[in-house]
Amino acid sequence: MIQQNIIWHPTVVTKKDRHQLNNHKSCVLWFTGYSGSGKSTLANELDCQLYDLGVQSYVLDGDNIRHGLNKELGFSAEDRIENIRRVGEVAKLFVDSGQIVMTAFISPFQKDRDQVRKLFEEHEFIEVFVDCPFEICERRDPKGLYQKARNGKIKDFTGIDSPYEKPLNPELTIHTAQTSVQNAARQIIKHLRKKEILT
Ligand code: PPS
Repeated sequence: MIQQNIIWHPTVVTKKDRHQLNNHKSCVLWFTGYSGSGKSTLANELDCQLYDLGVQSYVLDGDNIRHGLNKELGFSAEDRIENIRRVGEVAKLFVDSGQIVMTAFISPFQKDRDQVRKLFEEHEFIEVFVDCPFEICERRDPKGLYQKARNGKIKDFTGIDSPYEKPLNPELTIHTAQTSVQNAARQIIKHLRKKEILT
């Protein structure tokens, strides 16, 4: 609910002005997938490739945001919903500031991803399904969390005792078990050029 007597104050420098300054448009690349699917790795590789091209970009990562802005949130469905809602709002600020922002969150619920999508203009929200079979994510287990979840030391773990809803209609699907991270990032840059976000 929006408080009473709060009136939106438009910025003087517009998003369009910033696009002209940067020589590219802004958008959010919303990575979603299981823990260990490669969201953060891919987002960071893409960030490096964009940096080398002189693009204004930034990564918002689940683990990092949960150290600060969302430090009081856990992994109940309710907390995950609030996590994604806040990240959506932060991503919107980044897009307004003229940047390409990559968000690396499991974001397990389709409804929440759709809610975030509604915050943006059509071409500004790019849902990227980081598709990696659950068995491979569990085998990779980069942080040992799957093992802990299997041993009952972590509850509500995505894919074990908490659901993951695969995207119904993502703009992009990346099969991280079948392609290198460099190639995957190049594939996304190609998409950004096709959509004329990058020239
Ligand atoms: S969510 O579902 O979008 O709110 O989750 P997110 O903010 O992306 O946080 C996921 C990272 O938190 C670690 N972790 C867990 N993940 C899933 N379930 C449970 N219960 C859990 N507990 C801790 C885990 O390292 C996730 O990081 P990634 O990068 O996805 O592996």
